[in-house]
Amino acid sequence: MSVALTVDNLSTGYGRIEVLRAVSLTVARGEVVALVGANGAGKSTLLNTLIGAVRPWSGAIALDGAGITGLQPEAVVSRGLALVPERRQLFGDMTVEENLIVGAHLQTRAALAERREFVFGLFPKLHDRREQVAGYLSGGEQQMAAIGRALMSRPRLLALDEPSLGLAPKVVSEIFAAIRRLREETGTTILLVEQNATRALAIADYAYIMENGRVVLDGTPQALSRNADVREFYLGLNSQSGRISMRDVKHYRRRKRWLS
Ligand SMILES: Nc1ncnc2c1ncn2[C@@H]1O[C@H](COP(=O)(O)OP(=O)(O)O)[C@@H](O)[C@H]1O
Ligand SMILES: [Mg+2]
Repeated sequence: MSVALTVDNLSTGYGRIEVLRAVSLTVARGEVVALVGANGAGKSTLLNTLIGAVRPWSGAIALDGAGITGLQPEAVVSRGLALVPERRQLFGDMTVEENLIVGAHLQTRAALAERREFVFGLFPKLHDRREQVAGYLSGGEQQMAAIGRALMSRPRLLALDEPSLGLAPKVVSEIFAAIRRLREETGTTILLVEQNATRALAIADYAYIMENGRVVLDGTPQALSRNADVREFYLGLNSQSGRISMRDVKHYRRRKRWLS
């Protein structure tokens, strides 16, 4: 089993506030690895540190065995890691096709054409919408365009920050089916950040659970699904949506202390 990504004791924060506290994880080549946690756990901070948008305070990041700690985003992307950011972050007044071209700015012209065909093959809807301004697409189409833009750089590892956010269940299924196809057909390794643990564990080979900037649990989805805390909080056996908030976690912790 070769390793695509190693995160070793990574800490960082904003100003003097520490957000990530010695996070370690590995992603094996060709796997879908889920990182699950409540709002505010530090998931986006981790992805933004991997891509080079947030500077690490300490610790190390390696991509295919080569250190990328502290590199600028462009250098990280050129080494084979691409990020689909939270809330898509498309260029709203540019067309779908122009957004894809931005994602390919490190590619040759021939590679750009090949990648564009690949993205349109994965998301035929984007082909239909290619001349439309991204800001007017539906949420699901915007998510497809954001994934497409990241794929334009030919990543070997694709990190996705909450691709299900704000989308209807049927659209989430469509996005997740595309993620699965991407892995199966191209062997792209995937690091999937989600608050929607039910969906994430259904697709993942392995998962990490993050609370308050720390990895608190990891295992196969099967093993995690047997854990009572995971079942109660993260698999939404108490809630309709399968999503939880930090308030739920704090409430649960208080209740557990009171019961014990
Ligand atoms: N740019 C920022 N400046 C200051 N604090 C931030 C910034 N981004 C996130 N935070 C804080 O860091 C913590 C983790 O946030 P984030 O990484 O976005 O968590 P998640 O993605 O798991 O919801 C939160 O307390 C959040 O308020
Ligand atoms: Mg986030």
